[in-house]
Amino acid sequence: MFTSMAPLPLLLFFLLSLLASSSSAAYNVSYDTRSLIIDGQRKLLISAAIHYPRSVPAMWPGLVQLAKEGGVDVIETYVFWNGHELSPNNYYFGGRYDLVKFCKIVQQAGMYLILRIGPFVAAEWNFGGVPVWLHYVPGTVFRTDNEPFKYYMKKFTTLIVSMMKKEKLFASQGGPIILAQVENEYGFYESAYGEGGKRYTMWAANMAVSQNTGVPWIMCQQFDPPDTVIDTCNSFYCDHFKPISPNKPKLWTENWPGWFKTFGASDPHRPPEDVAFSVARFFHKGGSLQNYYMYHGGTNFGRTSGGPFITTSYDYDAPIDEYGLARCPKWGHLKELHRSIKLCEHALLNGKPISLSLGPSQEADFYEDSSGACAAFISNMDEKNDKMVVFRNTSYFLPAWSVSILPDCKNVVFNTAKVGSQTSVVEMVPTDLQPSTTALNKDLNGLQWNVFKEKAGIWAAADLTKNSLVDHINTTKDTTDYLWYTTSFLVDGTEEFLKNSTSPMLVVESKGHAMHVFINQKLQGSGSGNGTVSPFKFRCPISLKAGKNEIALLSMTVGLQNAGAFYEWVGAGPTSVRILGMRNGTVDLSTSRWTYKIGLQGEHLKIYDTNGLNSVSWVSTAEPPKHQPLTWYKAVVDSPPGKDPVGLDMIHMGKGLAWLNGNEIGRYWPRKASKHEKCVQKCDYRGKFMPNKCNTGCGEPTQRWYHVPRSWFKPSGNTLVIFEEKGGDPTKILLSTRKVSSVCAHISEDHPSFDFEHLQESAVGDYRKKASISLKCPAGTRISGVKFASFGDPAGTCGSYAVGECHDPNSVSMVEKVCLNQNDCKLEITKENFNMKLCPSLVKRLAVEVACS
Ligand code: GAL
Repeated sequence: MFTSMAPLPLLLFFLLSLLASSSSAAYNVSYDTRSLIIDGQRKLLISAAIHYPRSVPAMWPGLVQLAKEGGVDVIETYVFWNGHELSPNNYYFGGRYDLVKFCKIVQQAGMYLILRIGPFVAAEWNFGGVPVWLHYVPGTVFRTDNEPFKYYMKKFTTLIVSMMKKEKLFASQGGPIILAQVENEYGFYESAYGEGGKRYTMWAANMAVSQNTGVPWIMCQQFDPPDTVIDTCNSFYCDHFKPISPNKPKLWTENWPGWFKTFGASDPHRPPEDVAFSVARFFHKGGSLQNYYMYHGGTNFGRTSGGPFITTSYDYDAPIDEYGLARCPKWGHLKELHRSIKLCEHALLNGKPISLSLGPSQEADFYEDSSGACAAFISNMDEKNDKMVVFRNTSYFLPAWSVSILPDCKNVVFNTAKVGSQTSVVEMVPTDLQPSTTALNKDLNGLQWNVFKEKAGIWAAADLTKNSLVDHINTTKDTTDYLWYTTSFLVDGTEEFLKNSTSPMLVVESKGHAMHVFINQKLQGSGSGNGTVSPFKFRCPISLKAGKNEIALLSMTVGLQNAGAFYEWVGAGPTSVRILGMRNGTVDLSTSRWTYKIGLQGEHLKIYDTNGLNSVSWVSTAEPPKHQPLTWYKAVVDSPPGKDPVGLDMIHMGKGLAWLNGNEIGRYWPRKASKHEKCVQKCDYRGKFMPNKCNTGCGEPTQRWYHVPRSWFKPSGNTLVIFEEKGGDPTKILLSTRKVSSVCAHISEDHPSFDFEHLQESAVGDYRKKASISLKCPAGTRISGVKFASFGDPAGTCGSYAVGECHDPNSVSMVEKVCLNQNDCKLEITKENFNMKLCPSLVKRLAVEVACS
């Protein structure tokens, strides 16, 4: 194709690629008390966290583009040290860890980048991002004035900075990086480290600044920062935040638009009205840069999740969901918010702020500059009551807990509590595992499984033998989740329990995180910590025989601690093992002779990987054994049809690990949240948000589906490998596809609507339009049916709308006329379209749900 190019296009091609690769001009990033100043211009910036290893390179351009489309100017990411420095001096920057490629994608999208190097990051990431090996470098204490820690931290920071410099990625070199972060929320923990903590803060700031990046450094939640760095806020709300020094701008590095999940707990959601409220309040009160943590949360592939118990999904209820789809209405509502804030940019950044009280918990801030430009934010912080307020001689209706934005100090273009953008209904559509159509499987009917059983206990030469229980993490050094603790125990033939049907009781106390107990190769029971509390005490009746009994405990970690003072010293594994109900009472096995084996045989031989696949003898069968512990399953499958994102449905499995074509999908564990947790049917957005305010999924598995990126699939011949610890039914595993099945919109006839394309701060009123709804199905699909439409007083929410007492009977046919068979459509509330005379005393509303296919 290249050689067949005609000379002229070829030249053009070279010129264009030269242009694309040549870096743009250097620009200056500075700041004052009001904002960052980029090349002499004050900036009001919307930033979005997307962590590169939490998706795959094939998804990066789409994610960045979707953020840009959502009105985002800046992409923010941490740098994940333990993903890059696998052992001292052994670096990895390939695949999901190709940081330079990620930065360049952001650059090509014409966006800025905030690089939070840390290199301690927390982030619900294994060990907070610090390599586990560093804990075992003698004399190391993390995050304090400690020589080995500082040596390795500086070395890694310098490496990252040099790498960015070499690729000309800093603004001072024409690149996208406008800010860099050192450390992460150290202010919360500094005092735990005494004087050493204070010295470390100074050292970290100085070390960072001496890197000469040409861009400012930030430290988030740092309460005694030196003047050379900017301290920033992390919280659900940062309107009241003030940087320590008056010459620093008010920046918000982490606004959490949702929250993370832990295996066995319910699913947190933050309502879009409250996220928008917090953002609007921040800019209302003089903020100038706000970052969503996370904008796309993504997936903790493999064993990267922190812990204990952070799920493999890091969806975070973020504006872009784990699978890369816009989460609507959150994404769309925030997009409208961003547009509205941007209309105020000039007045906000250059005007003089004036604050007014409009009532007991109602206030206005307006910003007017010498040219007459004026922008105002008016808010009602009352958690229950809607209010009418008067601002500059005009009355405004403010729903409870909401902010209205007036880019001309007159017209409301946006209210945080009025969601007009579309809602989408997303489904996981089940598809059975399809036997591969490649030669291998061609002659066989149905899916063939290959099965390999792990031995319970020591499967090869022991790694260690001791007359005590050792710490799990100190022994595995996190090279695997698994550590076998085995011992044997003699039962006298005259023991009573052998004759009657009683069972002795095994009692294990463990620092965490989870454990399966095997006696004489048979699973007796499992125990684990709960929530984020890793220690547990576990009792289970056991069956013993006369003579020698083998006890094998499979101890497991489920993600290492990722934050807290001295977090690296938190251990795991059993501390006491006793058997109750023997003739002589309790037998304490804690100081018996214990033999240890690190990891599983299948892991050791890498039987999930192309190279290791054949290093064990798999048993081939169409009917794999069900509910068997310690079992490896392998199947060769076709990719599910279509292009929709894919999730592995593991609801019928127990707990374990999964891989596709050698790529680590991650830990699965469809552990259920207690049905006694607090869950809500409908979330009341009003009032302060806390992570447990609007949970769903009580009594259901925290995580049923596990994201398998499309780019990991070949059309055919994909090797799926599962390691099941305690027992499940592999024949019920599905590869479901994630689809937007319908979209809804619901607005009232007085919804603020403007022609945003042409809107200017000065003449907002001229661009007022009739209220309208816009509906859009995913690319490649069409509006195939109108499931519901009612102009009047419809009730319910998307998916369950119902006609009210006031209803225009032509609503459905009107929507059909405008929308059917289109990818998107727009419908104004006008007398041409609807019967406006209906129920004259009511402010009418239009609710629509259409199917996409
Ligand atoms: C912050 C921390 C982030 C992340 C977040 C919760 O305190 O800086 O890295 O852990 O909490 O998702």
